[in-house]
Amino acid sequence: MRIEPAGRLAGHVTVPGDKSISHRAVLIASICEGETLIRGFGRSEDTERTVRAVRSLAVRVEELEVNELVVHGVGFRGLEAPDGPIDCGNAGTLVRLLAGILAGQEGQQFELVGDESLSTRPMNRIAEPLTRMGTGVETDRGRLPLGIEGRPLRGITYELPVASAQVKSCILLAGLYAQGETIVIEPVPTRDHTESLLEMAGARVDPRPNRVTVWPAEHLALGGLEVPGDFSSAAPFIVAATLLKGSELHVNAVNLNPRRTGLLRILERMGARVAIRKPRRICGEPAGDLVVRHSELTATDVTGDEVPAAIDELPLFALAAACASGESVLRGAAELRAKESDRIEALVEGLSALGADIQATPDGFRVRGVSGRLQGGAMASRVDHRIAMVAGAAGLMSTEGVEIGDPGAVAVSFPGFFDLLETLIHAP
Ligand code: S3P
Repeated sequence: MRIEPAGRLAGHVTVPGDKSISHRAVLIASICEGETLIRGFGRSEDTERTVRAVRSLAVRVEELEVNELVVHGVGFRGLEAPDGPIDCGNAGTLVRLLAGILAGQEGQQFELVGDESLSTRPMNRIAEPLTRMGTGVETDRGRLPLGIEGRPLRGITYELPVASAQVKSCILLAGLYAQGETIVIEPVPTRDHTESLLEMAGARVDPRPNRVTVWPAEHLALGGLEVPGDFSSAAPFIVAATLLKGSELHVNAVNLNPRRTGLLRILERMGARVAIRKPRRICGEPAGDLVVRHSELTATDVTGDEVPAAIDELPLFALAAACASGESVLRGAAELRAKESDRIEALVEGLSALGADIQATPDGFRVRGVSGRLQGGAMASRVDHRIAMVAGAAGLMSTEGVEIGDPGAVAVSFPGFFDLLETLIHAP
């Protein structure tokens, strides 16, 4: 696919429902009593994997509309192990959160597998705490396939070695089944959607900024919920509209949980203008509409403390920095190497090929901005949805266009990404 240089972006966009919340809503609804109506479900390859996974565990899921589901919960201990492995595809959130729930299904054995990318990603980060809680866990030298045997669990206090909402959530979900309290201590606060949904479902949770405690539960019930738009899916449009002169873009009903919107704070520091309209709460999360206008950007440094709230948007920060004036540096982001691809390598190789001046460091990158458009060329997605979206935004902000290798990767989180992008492109 080729993305041609664009004049400006203008229009109104509604992005798919938040992927993190969509995964969690289906997983938690599965162990609830009764029906949960999920509206605004963010349908994508990743979240469809979650629907398929819970179906394979004997949960009935009705699809009323593309983005509306009814999950018929089987109760706290009602999941039934399928005959074969559960295929989590590309979805790290699915494999890590589901493992926490399965750990509590006493007397049953499960096997979790994934695609080539997921099979290279680290699983010891969940295997270790789950083992300490009493789960029977097997991995292939820290990678998938992951074997889980549900056993009686005990609560633990666990200090996360790396800030990870997936690992925190895995332990909290297992903690619902454990004897005594389970405490997770975070080096830096990460997204708190699991804590919020568990509270909504009636679990006893004490979420503090760096420390979350959960107590054993017996019955959970959600009833219904609406998923706000995914900030991570809005982010490529926000960055492209900021970079392209004359742009004015409106984004409807997007999740503005501060643990997700680190990119907004970084962009604002660089000079971006993003206004929040109609602030409100959707699914207990801060949300609102955004208006994004073009601004000239200047370089900034991003430190480790800022990384968790911007983790999935750091590839877009690389593009913004590449088009800004001055030298930007990202530090403390070694986790980018453990995502769907090694995102530091993917960005440095991909953006360099388009004319950016970017160098990798062990835990981030250094970018000298060109103060305007990149030249263009070809950029591989490495079958990573976030990298494919960066390549798309880079094409708009190039002088010669960008040929994207494997653009279909966007379907992992946002199947209609390029179609929507097309509708927003206008002449200068
Ligand atoms: C996610 C947490 C983050 C993020 C991922 C989604 C979640 O991963 O990068 O896209 O839904 O909990 P880590 O927990 O590995 O940081």
